Amino acid sequence: MLAALLAAWLSLTSVAVAAPTAEACTRDFLKAQADAYLAAQTAGKADGLKASSSVTYTQNFKEASVATGILATPLKIDFNRTIYDTTQCATFSEIVVADSAKPYVLGTQLRFTDGVLSKIETLITTKGDWLFNVAGTLRYAKQESWPEIPEGKRDTRAVIQAAGDAYLDLFNDKNVKVPWGNPCARLEGGSYVQPSCNVGVPSGIKNSNRRYVIDEVLGTVDIFFSFAGADPDSHEFRVENGKLRFVHTMTVMK
Ligand SMILES: *[C@@H]1O[C@H](CO)[C@@H](O)[C@H](O)[C@H]1NC(C)=O
Repeated sequence: MLAALLAAWLSLTSVAVAAPTAEACTRDFLKAQADAYLAAQTAGKADGLKASSSVTYTQNFKEASVATGILATPLKIDFNRTIYDTTQCATFSEIVVADSAKPYVLGTQLRFTDGVLSKIETLITTKGDWLFNVAGTLRYAKQESWPEIPEGKRDTRAVIQAAGDAYLDLFNDKNVKVPWGNPCARLEGGSYVQPSCNVGVPSGIKNSNRRYVIDEVLGTVDIFFSFAGADPDSHEFRVENGKLRFVHTMTVMK
């Protein structure tokens, strides 16, 4: 009898203790983490991040040190937008720093494992990178509208990812069917291409090593990849009703 009670008590206790680790990755959790990251970048201090001691940190796809990297440089952020992937427990933030002396457009993917920040990957674009023009990026990014998509109108993760993949595959295969939206606008560095995004897409280019962050609520996928297998690149795609509405690109020139 006592043994049975004890066993019952132990199993109840273990359920109670086990519950927090089984907690799902929520949008609120990701929002709080992305806010902490933006605050850390603003202050140039990573202390506020709940990071794993073995956190992976890369800049332009190369291992770097948090202590000496851009995260240790205070930056005044003029524009930011974050997307939230509760399935993979990841975020992507686009960050515009319009300081005319030291302008940046950053793209950061954060990844969490068991509720702890395990990977920070930042793309750093600045003067000299592909079509870089911070005033243009700020102006066009601010004027676009990327509201949350009402529940009944959301595309699936697969549809959103396929739209981004089709666009990147077109660089190497002219027969790929891309779900072009009409209108569609592409913010490429600081230049703006509209009302069609099917303009100036290169050919003979393989885009490899893709890492996705997908947000069904915002209808958006961000893809980090190696442009032509070499240059660190981010393409972010906003999809509405299965079609491309906005594309934002950052390409680091070596
Ligand atoms: C990021 O953007 C949001 C929405 O515009 C804004 O409220 C917030 O203050 C920004 N965060 C930083 C650190 O600039």
